[in-house]
Amino acid sequence: MIHDDFTELTLPANWRLEHYAHIGSTNDLAKQRARDGIPDGLVIVADQQISGRGRMGRSWEMPAGTGLPVSILLRPIWLQPADAYLLTMLAAVSLCLATEQVASVQALLKWPNDLLLRDSDGVLRKAAGILTELEARDGAINWAVIGIGLNIAWQPVGIVDGRDLAQMATSLASASGVFVSRRDVLRALLEALATGIDALRAGNQSALFDSWRARLATISQTVTVRLPDRSISGIAEGVTAMGALQVRDAQGLLHIITAGDVEA
Ligand code: BTN
Repeated sequence: MIHDDFTELTLPANWRLEHYAHIGSTNDLAKQRARDGIPDGLVIVADQQISGRGRMGRSWEMPAGTGLPVSILLRPIWLQPADAYLLTMLAAVSLCLATEQVASVQALLKWPNDLLLRDSDGVLRKAAGILTELEARDGAINWAVIGIGLNIAWQPVGIVDGRDLAQMATSLASASGVFVSRRDVLRALLEALATGIDALRAGNQSALFDSWRARLATISQTVTVRLPDRSISGIAEGVTAMGALQVRDAQGLLHIITAGDVEA
């Protein structure tokens, strides 16, 4: 297990960090802190999550100390609830910048926001996922929790939720061949997030959208999108201005997909 000293971490101005050896879910604790009125900029990081949660109601598992489960509590009162998707886009682009900076890999994204890294066999596999949760009140975002789970030194194996992890998942160490400390990745990630938040706050949304779209490996692929009640297959032609995926099926029909799981 890796024991990083997060006390040495330089945080963006006014941000605070709580580090736990064991936790249920960093997102759950961050949401609790949000409801308790804790201000913007709280970072919660753990060595091990007992009940980490993923998108679409799935669980999120990483062996103790081999990954970076982290949640960031923000109070982006400057953002309209309808634009909250920008927070997850920002987290995804920040993850790409941070992993590229610390491990010299090329980072791409699988729609909507999975971090993809290329293993030595040439296959792109998922190395991180993002779960953003928020509360909007009176037409404004009261709080948002950005939860990120990054595999750092874990070679995923086993079947989880019916999916073979060895085939679909990887880690930063596996894809880059170098070992990086969780502290270095977290520092780079928080720096990228804070810089991106300043840019968003200043109204510069288009630069973020452009970098997110440029990293989407999903575009132009033949995909099957699993929705709760059905699947849609076709060519991923592009994304809308709000980040929805545009898939054209064999009948020529264009589907606009706002949430789902993509298989290439
Ligand atoms: C996904 O399904 O791809 C999203 C996974 C998000 C996992 C992270 S780990 C830190 C934070 N706490 C949680 O319980 N989930 C997120």
